[in-house]
Amino acid sequence: MPLHVIIGAQWGDEGKGRILDAIAGEAAIVARFSGGDNAGHTVTADGKIFRLHLIPSGIVHPGPLCILGSGMVINPQRLLAEMDQLRAQGVDCSPERIKISHAAHILTPLHIALDQAEEGAREKKIGTTGRGIGPAFSEKTARCGLRAETLTQPEECADKIKAHILRGNRTLEKLYSQPPLDADAIAATFFQFAQTFGPHIADTSALVADALRSGKTVLAEGAQGTLLDLDQGTYPFVTSSPTGIAGAFSGLGVGARELGRVIGVVKAFQTRVGEGPFPTEQTGEIGNRLRGTGSMPWDEFGTTTGRPRRCGWLDLMLLRYSARQNGMTEFVLTKLDILSGLNPVRICAAYERGGKTYPELPLGMSGLETFRPVYTDLPGWDEDIRNARTKEDLPAAARRYVERIEKETGVPVSLVSVGSEREEIIHWKK
Ligand code: IMP
Repeated sequence: MPLHVIIGAQWGDEGKGRILDAIAGEAAIVARFSGGDNAGHTVTADGKIFRLHLIPSGIVHPGPLCILGSGMVINPQRLLAEMDQLRAQGVDCSPERIKISHAAHILTPLHIALDQAEEGAREKKIGTTGRGIGPAFSEKTARCGLRAETLTQPEECADKIKAHILRGNRTLEKLYSQPPLDADAIAATFFQFAQTFGPHIADTSALVADALRSGKTVLAEGAQGTLLDLDQGTYPFVTSSPTGIAGAFSGLGVGARELGRVIGVVKAFQTRVGEGPFPTEQTGEIGNRLRGTGSMPWDEFGTTTGRPRRCGWLDLMLLRYSARQNGMTEFVLTKLDILSGLNPVRICAAYERGGKTYPELPLGMSGLETFRPVYTDLPGWDEDIRNARTKEDLPAAARRYVERIEKETGVPVSLVSVGSEREEIIHWKK
C-alpha cells in the first residue's frame, strides 16, 4: 500500500484535520511533514473536540503511529502542552505512539521573540501567527539551527540552547531594541524537555520506509495550504516552509515512487488569515455570514490565534492552480453545509484585468492583487443538508455546485463533508 498525501488546496484552514480523521483509521502511520504550531487542526470525534497544532490528527485513532517529520519546526513547550491536553482526553502520547524525526528543527523562545520583533518592524505586515516559524526556518536554511536529535543529549542540548539564546540576544537588543532573554533559565527548561522528548526521537524516514515496504499505508498530513507555500504561494504573504506535495517528500524523507493518492482539501468557500491578496474576498454581509459569529467551533476564527478569518466566494482560478501544483488526484470538499441559505451562490472561474479576461494566471501568484474576479451565479439551496449521507440526499442545487467544481478543475471529488461530526460525510462516487 502506498503513501497518500493530504494537502490544503487554499490558504489553510480547509478542514484537513477532520478529513484526515475520516481516513486515518486505515493507516499504519500518520505523519506531519512541514510547518510547526502555526497550524491548527480541529477534530471532533465521539462528542469530544481535539485541537491539534503539532501532533498529526491521526492520534485521535488508537491505531496509527504518529510522526513529526524532518520538515517540521517543533516548539517543545507547545508539544508538551498538546500532549498533556490529549492525555487528559484519554489519548496515548507515549514514545511508542509518537515519534519525532531526529532531523526536525527545534523552535525556541528566541524564534518567537524574533518573529514578533520582525513583524513589528515590517512596513508591510505579513500577519504571521507570531509562533516563531519564520526565524526557525531562517536558521535552518542558514545552517545554524538546532535539530531535534540534540534532545537525546540533555546536557549538550542545554549548552547549545544557551549559546543560541546569547547569540540571538544581540540581534534582539541591537537591531530591535528588545530586552534580552534569560539564557540560563531557557537552557534549564530545555534540559527538562530533552529528558521528556529524548525517547521520542527516531529516524522516522526509516520507519516510513519499513511500513511502506511491508505493504502498509502511510498518510502524510499537510499543514497550511498550497497558496501559503514558500515557493508557489502568494509570496511574500506565505509561510516559511513547503506546504505542497514537494514538502511531503523532503519533510518525511520518502521517495515519489511510493506515491498513491494526492488529496486536495477544499473548503466550499474561500478563507484567509493574515495579510495578502484575496480576489474574491467579501468584506460585507456575505463575509460575515460565511465567517459565523465565533460561537461555534467550526466558525471562521483561527484555531491557533483566534483571529477572524477573511472570507469570500470560492475561487476556481486558484483551485485549478493548486491542483496543477500538486498533481491532485482528488478533492475533498468541506463545509458545504455553510452555504445553505445563500442565494445565489457565486463562484469565480476567471479573472479580469484592464478589460481582458484571463482563464489562466499569467505569472502564477505574482500580481494576484491586480485582478478582479469574474463571477458566475449558481442557484442556492435553503435546506439544512447536515443529515445528507448520499449524493441523492442533497438538493439538486448543492449537487450541481459540487459537480461544477469537478468540471471547472478536472479533478474528481471523493468526499463531501456536510457537518463537523465524523459521520457527517458523503462518499461522492458511491
Ligand atoms: P507564519 O507561518 O506564522 O510565519 O505566518 C505566515 C502566514 O501564513 C500568515 O498569513 C499566517 O496567517 C498564515 N498561516 C500560517 N499558518 C496558518 C494556518 O495553519 N492556517 C492559515 N493560515 C496560516
